Amino acid sequence: MGAPTLADLAQALQDLERNGLAAIREATTPAVLEQLRVDYLGKKGELSQVLRGMGQLPPAERPQVGALANQVKDRLQEALAERVAQVQAVQMQARLQAETLDVTMPGLGQTPGHAHPLQQMMHRVLDVFVGLGYQVVQGPEVETDYYNFAALNFLPDHPARDMQDTYYLPDGRLLRTHTSTVQIRYMEAHQPPVRIVVPGRVYRRDAVDATHSAMFHQVEILAVAPGLTFTDLKGTLVTFIQALFGQVPVRFRASYFPFTEPSAEVDLQWRGRWLEVLGCGMVDPNVLQAVGYDPEQYTGFAAGLGVERLAMIFHEIDDIRRFYTSDLRFLRQF
Ligand code: DAH
Repeated sequence: MGAPTLADLAQALQDLERNGLAAIREATTPAVLEQLRVDYLGKKGELSQVLRGMGQLPPAERPQVGALANQVKDRLQEALAERVAQVQAVQMQARLQAETLDVTMPGLGQTPGHAHPLQQMMHRVLDVFVGLGYQVVQGPEVETDYYNFAALNFLPDHPARDMQDTYYLPDGRLLRTHTSTVQIRYMEAHQPPVRIVVPGRVYRRDAVDATHSAMFHQVEILAVAPGLTFTDLKGTLVTFIQALFGQVPVRFRASYFPFTEPSAEVDLQWRGRWLEVLGCGMVDPNVLQAVGYDPEQYTGFAAGLGVERLAMIFHEIDDIRRFYTSDLRFLRQF
């Protein structure tokens, strides 16, 4: 094989350009295009190879090959730049499509729950008394006869002590029938003045029906201080009831509880009817004595209410059992 002629080199440059342009057109990634640039235009690339043959041409012919080579180089560079821009645009388009965020799509909403209607009512009650300066305290649900009955001035043969009315444990303890137990427990451990509000579960051996449940919730209220009178009791309870129900009429009816004297039941007028909402009274001196308070020095008032009953009045619920069956159709209304 002899030295390449001008025609050979011109042909080689043409072939190089044609092949290079074809390869560039087919490239689909920036990495491939960069490799093509190196292969064709790099220091050891194909164009350099061809130019190496130029040295063997007569000097007069060399500029023609040089000019041709520059043209080829320019066209390949131009094609590369154009194709890089195209490939980048396609890639960007694909990315944008893949990342599409449709802000009008319905969200994956978190549906937070809410407090049970009984808890809501309990908290309403507590809120009012906390606002009046009362402290929230609690006590045990398994109790002794002493805290549930004896210290609260129930006589030994009081019917509430009957096995038929109260749940007894084999060891003689019982499930408390009211939250009044905490009056005794708190006063035993603290000196007056006392201002407490006591939420909790209580138990009665009742047949379950629309208005009775073997377990229900009460809130107990107790205030003891020198000089407290029945007007303090009335003012406090009317304030409480009206905070919950608005400016409803409230009436006090004489009643009886072993641990208060005098005692009363309190009704409110709601949608044209008088409804009983709580029991109350002045703390019986025997109860103060049982915890070592001097009844000559201190007087007190107490009240107890059923949370279920209050919620049933407030929301016009007809059956106490609805509170316990976890029916979402019912619960979601609150
Ligand atoms: N303990 C009573 C009950 O369960 C409710 C009650 C009435 C509580 C009068 C009191 C009160 O503190 O003074 O039926």
